Amino acid sequence: LNSLLLELDGQGPLFEQLARALKNSILSGRFAPGSRLPATRTLSSTLAISRNTVISAYELLCAEQLAVAEPGSGTRVAAEIAALSTPSTADGGIPCSRYSARTRKLGPITLARLQIAPELRYNLQYGDPLMGASLFQSWRRKLAAAALREAIAEYLERRRGIVSSAGNILIVGGTQQALSLVSRVVLDEGDTAVIEDPHYQLAHHTLLAHGAHIVSTPVDREGLITSELPARGARLIYVTPSHQFPSGEIMSFDRRTALLAYAARHGSWIFEDDYDSEFRYVGRPLPALRSLELSDRVIYAGTFSKTLFPSLRLAYVVCPAGLYGDMLYAKRLDDLGCAAIDQAALATFLQGGQFEKQLRKSMTELRRRREALVGGLQRHAGARIQVGDSQAGMHVVAWLPDFSYPDLDRLIKTALTRSLGLHPIHPYYRKRPAHPGLLVGFAGVSVAQIERATALLGEILREIPGSLTHRAR
Ligand SMILES: Cc1ncc(COP(=O)(O)O)c(C=O)c1O
Repeated sequence: LNSLLLELDGQGPLFEQLARALKNSILSGRFAPGSRLPATRTLSSTLAISRNTVISAYELLCAEQLAVAEPGSGTRVAAEIAALSTPSTADGGIPCSRYSARTRKLGPITLARLQIAPELRYNLQYGDPLMGASLFQSWRRKLAAAALREAIAEYLERRRGIVSSAGNILIVGGTQQALSLVSRVVLDEGDTAVIEDPHYQLAHHTLLAHGAHIVSTPVDREGLITSELPARGARLIYVTPSHQFPSGEIMSFDRRTALLAYAARHGSWIFEDDYDSEFRYVGRPLPALRSLELSDRVIYAGTFSKTLFPSLRLAYVVCPAGLYGDMLYAKRLDDLGCAAIDQAALATFLQGGQFEKQLRKSMTELRRRREALVGGLQRHAGARIQVGDSQAGMHVVAWLPDFSYPDLDRLIKTALTRSLGLHPIHPYYRKRPAHPGLLVGFAGVSVAQIERATALLGEILREIPGSLTHRAR
């Protein structure tokens, strides 16, 4: 311990002095990332200071995310100190966008507290607010609960077969931010990005806004038709394999392996948007792309927008190892991180089992609503409506085989006058399908409301005979 050369600078409370000295040792590499800090008892007797002072200093380090308290086994230096100070070097060999190439060359940040010079007696550095031991004590308790990335890693391994260390998981403010950061990190203007047809509009717009050259690849009953992916390759492929949005199809296992093989062959990145995979009503979910072989090209995004609520704005990305540093930097430049309190609450929710309890409850209720919707459509609309049979998620697709597009307009307008909101599916397609259809969400309406709504729809359909006679989709 004497070789640690922990010099206290005599400035301010003792616990802050000790924290500063430890911080300098960590940042100068004397304590390696991930290594164990001395036991509080040992350090207190070596330095002849109280154990509470040492504990407060450790709490301060934890609050600054330089160290991590591990219940039962002391405190360790955070594993990512190197990544925090030099995000780019670890990823030097991975090809990246011009944006990431620029961030890799950025110099150190002047205001970064990580750079505090070790031997100063008076450090008039800007950046530290007024801090007190009691604040850190309560903050530490919150942080102890905020092991969100660990909780997510554990959840993903158990539920989705995805093996990832917490160190590869980036917490983001929604799938939306995930795709935006990925675009910034891997795409340059003019690079080819594939979206599904039909597609999730916000994904399309994000890729367009980043200047990508968009290629739409069609979807059939087995999901994305991999044989129609661009022969010359693509830089990024955005897919919703668990429950294609909006068609509802589930990507077959063969297509999944074909997509991974394509990405490996062309050096493409796959963005796997697993937005609602938790809700599947028949059988077990197919393994996520990220859990299969060759998955190091897959950037996996999961969200709490569907399982909890969208205004939470919390989601996560499982990053391939070589992309983590670039993604972290892009996230920092965007917003310096998601709200810590929300993360703490969510981690507690996951680790305490309430999240999965909530999932089970939601599943039971969503299944009831889905059955009410499909049953109601069959009873009240009969052959006028064909419901896509995907057994997952929170919406179904209802096709109107005897309707033309002008008939659809009439239907939607008439329904509106009776206070029934109907939503067409064709805006999600690059090219209108031959027959119109509706995208029908069922999560936001009760079983009783669904029964009344489907009866009303049946009534309106009887008033509007379709102008087409053939009934094939
Ligand atoms: C295809 C798809 N992906 C992702 C999301 C969720 O996005 P976010 O996590 O940004 O709320 C949605 C929500 O409607 C969606 O439909």
